[in-house]
Amino acid sequence: MALTEEDLSVVLENGIDPENPGKYADLLEDLQGNILRGHGRDHSVHLFLEFHADKVDSAKEWVENFAKNYIKSAQQQFDESARYRKEGVNGGLFANFFLSKDGYKYFGVKPFKMPKDEPFRFGMKNEAVKNLLGDPPVEEWETGYQQTLHALIIMADDDVVDLLQGVNQMTQDLRTVATIVHREDGFILRNSEGQIIEHFGFVDGISQPLFLKRDIVRSRVNNCNFSQWDPRAPLSIVVEKDRNGQKEDSYGSYLVYRKLEQNVKGWNENVASLAKELKVEPEFVGASTMGRFKDGTPLTMADVPSHAVTPTNNFNFDEDTKAMKCPFHAHIRKTNPRGDTGRVESAPNAEQALETELGHRIARRGISYGDNDINHEPETGSGLLFLCFQATIENQFNFIQSAWANQPKFVQVDVGPDPVISPPGSQNWTKEWGKEATENRPFKLWMKVKGGEYFFAPSISCLANMTSL
Ligand code: HEM
Repeated sequence: MALTEEDLSVVLENGIDPENPGKYADLLEDLQGNILRGHGRDHSVHLFLEFHADKVDSAKEWVENFAKNYIKSAQQQFDESARYRKEGVNGGLFANFFLSKDGYKYFGVKPFKMPKDEPFRFGMKNEAVKNLLGDPPVEEWETGYQQTLHALIIMADDDVVDLLQGVNQMTQDLRTVATIVHREDGFILRNSEGQIIEHFGFVDGISQPLFLKRDIVRSRVNNCNFSQWDPRAPLSIVVEKDRNGQKEDSYGSYLVYRKLEQNVKGWNENVASLAKELKVEPEFVGASTMGRFKDGTPLTMADVPSHAVTPTNNFNFDEDTKAMKCPFHAHIRKTNPRGDTGRVESAPNAEQALETELGHRIARRGISYGDNDINHEPETGSGLLFLCFQATIENQFNFIQSAWANQPKFVQVDVGPDPVISPPGSQNWTKEWGKEATENRPFKLWMKVKGGEYFFAPSISCLANMTSL
């Protein structure tokens, strides 16, 4: 029997267990990997494709073969990790395949069979979408992103030589059906402790919605049985039924892809000068923008870094409702207010507000690009390939960016925009916050959008049967 709405919206005590999947077996077999948990490989290559205009049939066959030979399902990803833990056998090359709205159109999919999310159907270059997010004009994007992007392939591996060989092979293979209009190479950046960081030097990937048993069990141990924050999430925030799937439980997920350049030198200098002006430690200024110290310690819990090997995610802002410790504008407070929206006057009630907040969560799967020497301070050419999965772009990524991060009026007072990701000039930014405050922003924005697109991760059975579309 097909999964019901209830099966998707329930939060299971221990999440879904791929070792014993029960009614979720078909979903896990047909859903692409990397959605319910990150693929975890250290290196990845992103190939953006435009299929040749007169080659629709061959392109369909090509996608079928790719789906059968390369794409890994959620179940396969789990089985391979289990095998690695037991026998030390590495899962090797990992691959995903995504289609944009233009990709669906290219393959002749009728509107009623296309993924229904509105921003997906508009695409990221759409004027209204750009205004909502506060993105720069398309002419200022990297040229690759200005092109029509039909599809995105992600290939990932721990062994960079194997990966590049695989990518070379793929590049040859693709020639007859598509042009690779753009390519990005990503890698996991680590600090001297071996923790995963982003280019500004902060530990990243700590807070994620969790769906699978192993992730939940491990996190529960590190996070005091979720006494202050429960990261468990229902499938309904990350999957949508795939209208072109061939199975009863064929599901897909929306992928938001954005290339975000980080000016590390600018960031560091701004942190240092503000620290001098305010007569505080630079690490405190950094923490006030991000909401966590570089080592991941939440600012709301401590005045100094705790140097925990595994930074905690077990906290909320209940004891910090006036933001005396962690500012309302801090990146993690803007992008996951952990109950703050229940404290505004117009809120229905705290419980309901938290429930709504939880529905906005995204599964972040980003990876760094550019300079991989953490001792350098690149001004250009380095940053984050931001990727996140969700069930609706409108209510999740777009909502977080436009209604929370970019809004100067957030939760209580005139807190200003998110200093890490909110561009000046985005909707209502200058208007509501005032020109002077905008120009005198004590912390400038050191992140620049270089381009991006919305994609859908079709079910594997859809891709493996493209010729019958
Ligand atoms: C270059 C750009 C970005 C940088 C440097 C950055 C950095 C970080 C860091 C260091 C964390 C804390 C680690 C963690 O809690 O896992 C974090 C958390 C987070 N970020 Fe970003 N981020 C960037 C872009 C974005 C964007 C564009 C969004 C979405 C609009 C976003 C959404 C989030 C969310 C939802 C969290 C988790 C918050 C929580 O649950 O506490 N980030 N980010």
